[in-house]
Amino acid sequence: EKGGYRHFMLKEIYEQPRAMADTLAGRIREEAGDIYLEDLNLDDETLRSMDKVNIVACGTSWHAGLVGKFLAEKLARVPVEVDIASEFRYRDPIVTPRTLTVLISQSGETADTLAGLREAKGKGGKVVSICNVVDSSIARESDGVIYTHAGPEIGVASTKAFTTQLVALVLFACKLGRVRGTLDENECRLLGEELVKLPRKIEEALEQDAAIEEVAKLYMNASDFLYLGRGNQYPIALEGALKLKEISYIHAEGYPAGEMKHGPIALIDEHLPVVVLLPNNETREKVISNMQEVRARAGQVIAITDLDDSLVRDNADHVLTFPGIRDELMPVVLSVPMQLLAYHIAVLKGTDVDQPRNLAKSVTVE
Ligand code: M6R
Repeated sequence: EKGGYRHFMLKEIYEQPRAMADTLAGRIREEAGDIYLEDLNLDDETLRSMDKVNIVACGTSWHAGLVGKFLAEKLARVPVEVDIASEFRYRDPIVTPRTLTVLISQSGETADTLAGLREAKGKGGKVVSICNVVDSSIARESDGVIYTHAGPEIGVASTKAFTTQLVALVLFACKLGRVRGTLDENECRLLGEELVKLPRKIEEALEQDAAIEEVAKLYMNASDFLYLGRGNQYPIALEGALKLKEISYIHAEGYPAGEMKHGPIALIDEHLPVVVLLPNNETREKVISNMQEVRARAGQVIAITDLDDSLVRDNADHVLTFPGIRDELMPVVLSVPMQLLAYHIAVLKGTDVDQPRNLAKSVTVE
């Protein structure tokens, strides 16, 4: 059932091109320059009337939500708040009939996320969920659902569920942008064309597996890792750190790169590997200068990038290169090295990758 793979996690990492294609299937209306979400159940008028979006989730799904904020604010120009479900449910959140709350949950059974849904509904708001399990509690209680079609995820560490959540969020943000008039037909069509390229880009990203394993061998004995990213890559830094913690039991922290000098820089010495997400976008120079700051303190920089030039080479100890794609989709591509780095380190350390200690696949108690 592991299809020849050593672990479910690895199998699920490799299933991502297929999972992504399935999540996109039938949803891009190329001719109309629009997106079709079959179970959204909210008419255009209702969607247009929303003046705020709350995204509520736990763990990896919360990281997807943080990327969702960038997407919805950019493409639909609507204010977005992102909350951890166990915080949202207890803080008497501001929800009105014009608030759209988006719950993100692979299992659809996470207790705090379900409670967040009920809180938002109870206050008269509209509720949409992004779920991987059909007819799960969260899916059933929502006004509308955007299903991710990742297929069953067995590994406790979420991989394909996360990247398909990102894809679902792109589709949702496009839809919202079309309805609100902030995304024109042509832009939506262009984004659709890029989305269709994603599965192939992920296949190319997976070709870096052996190179990532080599880096894993060099750093498997580190006691701490720092992950840095800016903008829409900051949540991917958080996700990379969480993956490493969950399955290798190495302490890791994700930080917005610009925040490093406000504290975590004190941790840097020759024993600290720093994984830096470096997409070729307008943040690049800033991130490079963060890399210089790390190296000036003898930290080891592992750069994850789609542009391997002398500037990166001069400022990194290791460079891992991945295919480029439109910036909205780069978080999906750069999630792959986050998963594989954690996976290989865990395997080298001999931990139980699919069933890490103390963790459950679905957290149905608060
Ligand atoms: O099923 P959900 O997406 O609601 O689960 C949320 C978290 O429990 C989950 O993402 C958890 O953080 C994973 N172990 C991450 O790998």
